[in-house]
Amino acid sequence: MSILVTGGTGTLGRVVVPELRDTGADVRVLSHRRSGSGIVTGDLVARAGLPAALRGVHTVVHLATTGNARDIRAMANLTSAASAAGVRHLIYLSIVGVDAVPLPYYRAKLECERQLQSAGLPWTVLRATQFHDLVWQIFAAQRRSPWLFVPDIPIQPVDTSVVAARLVQLAAEPPAGRVADLGGPRVQRLLDLAHDFLAATGRPGRRIVQTRLPGRIFAAYAAGGHLAPGEAAVGTPDFADFCARRTRAQEPAAPLPGAAPGARRQDRHPGATSRTHQEQQASGPRSAYPGDFLGMPSLDYAPRPDGRPDPGEIVWTWVPFEEDHTRGKDRPVLLVGRDGPWLLAVPLTSKDHDRDAAQEHTAGREWVDVGSGGWDTAGRPSEARVDRIVRVDPTAVRREGAVLGRHTFAQVAAAIRGRVTEGTSLE
Ligand SMILES: NC(=O)c1ccc[n+]([C@@H]2O[C@H](COP(=O)([O-])OP(=O)(O)OC[C@H]3O[C@@H](n4cnc5c(N)ncnc54)[C@H](OP(=O)(O)O)[C@@H]3O)[C@@H](O)[C@H]2O)c1
Repeated sequence: MSILVTGGTGTLGRVVVPELRDTGADVRVLSHRRSGSGIVTGDLVARAGLPAALRGVHTVVHLATTGNARDIRAMANLTSAASAAGVRHLIYLSIVGVDAVPLPYYRAKLECERQLQSAGLPWTVLRATQFHDLVWQIFAAQRRSPWLFVPDIPIQPVDTSVVAARLVQLAAEPPAGRVADLGGPRVQRLLDLAHDFLAATGRPGRRIVQTRLPGRIFAAYAAGGHLAPGEAAVGTPDFADFCARRTRAQEPAAPLPGAAPGARRQDRHPGATSRTHQEQQASGPRSAYPGDFLGMPSLDYAPRPDGRPDPGEIVWTWVPFEEDHTRGKDRPVLLVGRDGPWLLAVPLTSKDHDRDAAQEHTAGREWVDVGSGGWDTAGRPSEARVDRIVRVDPTAVRREGAVLGRHTFAQVAAAIRGRVTEGTSLE
């Protein structure tokens, strides 16, 4: 399937594009300022280059934004060009609360939603809460001020990896109209996130000054018009996790195994704007990955509501690729035990491997159904890969996750033991 991603060079787009390519889709990116491999040059506002960009495209994932009311013109130009090109599905990312918070940008986004709904194209609209990157930018923009000015409002920021995963799923499905909103794992005070930011950036003593936004806007935020507490992506990275990863990205870190002397490990958050796909793939825990766990692990069901990740819980974390441990990606895992300072985990997928079970078995991969839960915001059933046990850096997973039922955990544990006893790939 051919997919055009507008805004594919942006904060979210840089995370979405490689994820879409991983599904095997033919993905091209629209940019009004860049050119290069996989990029088509075109301007949504000036309506330049759109017929060529849309030729043969089945699905458009529309992430481009001008940050102002010119988005309305961009949407009008995109929908008319997409209709002319015979596009079958246009997916638009909007913001939770565009109809509740009276910001001019939100009004423009709401108008874009309306335009899309009346354009005659099959469509899907997903509204997400603020990205972690945006919260970070709000604080980082005040770097030179002795004080940090922060309005006392609630916020529910979400990780771009989570939004990307949802968009990839929507692109694989038929047009669905307005789908359920997507929010971060929990609602917090922006003031508390400011403390996380100051701690992460090494200035915990800096003074935070509470501010007020203009009347109606503040009232709308204070009333939570921009929140989606019922649609929280439970168990996904929160802002403290984001800060930890973002800060680590700026520290000198351990060299990659086999890297040239002086080479520095790339360890930036997937949403970091200046990051290439290859750099994203190269992120991971600060200490060098000692390799997958081999042999019989001690499997232990011990989920505890103690704020920390424990065996029996499903968390999102960085998982190295099997063939190259210096590269990897964020994904959900089931924690199954411990090995010294490391947590042990089996990777999860929402792909249905019942369909290609024979092929997977031949490749040495075995999957066990674990059902659905808060770790997958789309509520898709997941499968656990029981022939590979990865080590997880507990400091890269700072909080507890969704708890898997004891019975299902026992099934996974039995399958792991069976694999080890059989003397297959765990040895
Ligand atoms: N940031 C948040 O917290 C948040 C929350 C919920 C929803 N959203 C929505 O998510 C989407 C992506 O946000 P983001 O933060 O990733 O945006 P971003 O980083 O600001 O990126 C904006 C993108 O738009 C493209 N663009 C700008 N003007 C263009 C034009 N005239 N023609 C073609 N492309 C143009 C830019 O590409 P080039 O410069 O390469 O052309 C860039 O890739 C937006 O629709 C936003 O409203 C954002």
